[in-house]
Amino acid sequence: MSKEVVLSGIRPTGFLHLGNYFGAMRNYVRMQDEYNCYFFVANWHALTTHPDTRELQNSVHRVIAENVACGLDPDKVALYVQSDVPEIAELYLYLNTMAYKGELEKTTTFKDKVRQQPENVNAGLLTYPVLMAADILIHRALKVPVGKDQEQHLEMARNFAERFNHRYGDILPSPQAFNFGNELVKIMSLDGNGKMSKSENQMNTLFLADNDDLIRKKIMKAKTDSGPTEANSVKPDYIENIFTLLKLVSNESVLQKFEADFNGCSIRYGDLKKQLAEDMVNFIRPIREKAADIQNNKPLLSKIIHQGAEKARASASATLTEVRKAMRLNY
Ligand code: ADP
Ligand code: TRP
Repeated sequence: MSKEVVLSGIRPTGFLHLGNYFGAMRNYVRMQDEYNCYFFVANWHALTTHPDTRELQNSVHRVIAENVACGLDPDKVALYVQSDVPEIAELYLYLNTMAYKGELEKTTTFKDKVRQQPENVNAGLLTYPVLMAADILIHRALKVPVGKDQEQHLEMARNFAERFNHRYGDILPSPQAFNFGNELVKIMSLDGNGKMSKSENQMNTLFLADNDDLIRKKIMKAKTDSGPTEANSVKPDYIENIFTLLKLVSNESVLQKFEADFNGCSIRYGDLKKQLAEDMVNFIRPIREKAADIQNNKPLLSKIIHQGAEKARASASATLTEVRKAMRLNY
């Protein structure tokens, strides 16, 4: 039986952080054996908000390098850059005729962007969900691992696919949002306010590119308090988050020790953070170093990107042939 197609995209609009790693990339890596995976860098999407392409080029290279450093194997998955697959743009054109102005204007992410960048409400922002639908449908992907904020876009992709099928024949399957595994981890910002994010205060976010000292500094500054006064208290959010991080990067005995200290009211947060800082340094360092090696090795980077484009174009052009046939565009 052929493997199910999984697809996801990352916008190259900033440095990848621990939230991206545990919320997205770790799951991509776990999926690569079981599924036929397509992962790509959404650089066309980035143009709608980040028109400076000098910076974009660096970011695209870094995202590719960081994904490989985190364990994605370019021989197992198709890891590619969106703009290397022109077939997506052609499908986007057809799907644009199935998308209505009214529904695009009502999209939450569009309304957010209009508020955030009133000086640049470009048509690419309006049709963002159509391009995203083309990204997915071009490989006829069924499962799309994304966060909750992308669910509306997926619903729109299903609508566009259904309209296409209704008009021209059953070609495009309906994609679904997908969570890999049961535990969906959410990494909070180090000050306990909201989730760790590219756009949050840089000192509250641990980036995969941070050096050892910066990691230590950020963790030592993480919010704590004077400690529990009653045995077996409930942990405040920001303390819970430190334990979440400990669970992810430290070994079991370390976790047990600090849990016991917390429950017995003898916890010293300075020691807890020092331990977490060292374990985090050991966790991030190999990823950072491997990513830097790949990023500095231009021939390797170029080989990975070309290999990904080739795989993605093979699948994309097969879909496009069907689409053109169904639309009677195969003269
Ligand atoms: P950001 O909020 O930093 O811009 P994105 O929205 O681009 O990140 O998210 C890319 C992927 O990383 C998504 O799948 C999202 O669910 C995941 N992700 C982002 N931040 C976190 C976080 N703090 N905890 C868990 N997962 C996260
Ligand atoms: N819109 C997604 C985001 O902002 C990125 C993205 C673009 C994507 N195309 C996609 C995600 C296709 C999944 C599938 O995070």
